Amino acid sequence: MQFKVKQGKGLKGEITVPGDKSISHRAIMLASLADGKSEIFGFLEGEDCLATIKVFQKMGVSISRQENKVLVEGKGIKGLEDPSGPLDFGNSGTSVRLCAGVLAAQEFSTTLIGDSSLSSRPMTRITEPLGLMGSDILSSDQGTLPIKIEPVASLKSIKYSLPVASAQVKSCLLFAGLYSDGITEVEEKVTTRDHTERMFEQYGIPINVSLSKEAKLIKLTKIESIDPMNIDVSGDFSSASFFILAALITPNSELLIRNVGVNPTRIGFLHALRHMGANIELTNEIDSFEPTADLIVKTSALKGITLNANLVANMIDEMPVFFIAASLAEGITKVKEAKELRTKESDRLQVMSEVLDSFGVKFRLEQDGIIIYGLGNSGTFKSTEINSYGDHRIAMASSIASLRADGETTVLDCLNVNTSFPNFIDVCHEIGINIEIV
Ligand code: S3P
Repeated sequence: MQFKVKQGKGLKGEITVPGDKSISHRAIMLASLADGKSEIFGFLEGEDCLATIKVFQKMGVSISRQENKVLVEGKGIKGLEDPSGPLDFGNSGTSVRLCAGVLAAQEFSTTLIGDSSLSSRPMTRITEPLGLMGSDILSSDQGTLPIKIEPVASLKSIKYSLPVASAQVKSCLLFAGLYSDGITEVEEKVTTRDHTERMFEQYGIPINVSLSKEAKLIKLTKIESIDPMNIDVSGDFSSASFFILAALITPNSELLIRNVGVNPTRIGFLHALRHMGANIELTNEIDSFEPTADLIVKTSALKGITLNANLVANMIDEMPVFFIAASLAEGITKVKEAKELRTKESDRLQVMSEVLDSFGVKFRLEQDGIIIYGLGNSGTFKSTEINSYGDHRIAMASSIASLRADGETTVLDCLNVNTSFPNFIDVCHEIGINIEIV
């Protein structure tokens, strides 16, 4: 699937974006492990989260759709059934890594598989600590999928300091910690998204979070049962980021994006853009277990910045969009300590450098970052053909960038946009973006 995008001007309107991917995965997982019915509102019907649903259905959990909600009849923390056959996680790193924490503690064997992109992503970051907890877990010789897990008598709790800033690894260990004897402690030196901690608290699971100058420490005690709970999933900030960029870089634009999740561990992109001079206002802020706000975004003149390394973890999924903003800013933008980008659905440092090259932007690619020489606020990209390498976020970031190209741009290999934002094209049309599927 390819997208063709024409130059844009005067984007106006009010939009909502689909439910948050990270929260949707976690809601299905906890609802499946609870004793009884939970309802999930605002669930993201993207392929990644549907993969999580299928995995739990295969383990005997009844999950159905009713109008605007997903109904989950949880089987209890010890109630999952042998799926008899491999569990397919498709393209979803979050799903496979988080679910591995649950599967490590089951009384049946499982084999975890995924598509070609997921099968090349690093898994030792979870198999090693789960092994320390006593799990019988094995990845391929390359440290990738397939993963095989055999049942063990019990898991033991560990204290683990995360060697990489990864919410997926942290969450994997917290899910395993639900089943481990003793107190599981996970320490992170760089704060990553805290959706698991927040949802555990929401589900009444005893979790203790303490902060020191050096690190955040999360302590979790094994539990016997989880009560069911209804969950409201907020709009995905990462999906909103494409439209934040669209409004900022397209002349005479103003957008209102409603009900966006603004969890402080997710909005590094907002802080970075404001440092660059972006006009983004938050209104109607609601402080629920996952805070939300409406965003008003207007066309803005941007200037380059040196990105604070601490912000990178809180905008890791928005980096492709950020690179486009930096390319149209006045001056130089420097990004350091971002080598995690090489482990995503594609090597996002490499692939985005190819995207920038095709658009005619000058940059210096480094092992753990990039220096981008902005074209300036009246600069335009060369209209071109972009290869997104099947990475949904590269495809959407490049499509939005095309609004500032000097003609029509084609973005190749866009099918995986369905993993996180199945109605991306419809939302583009709502605000006047000239984009078609070919
Ligand atoms: C996610 C964590 C991040 C992010 C991913 C979603 C999560 O991955 O990139 O899209 O829901 O926990 P890492 O933990 O690998 O950084």
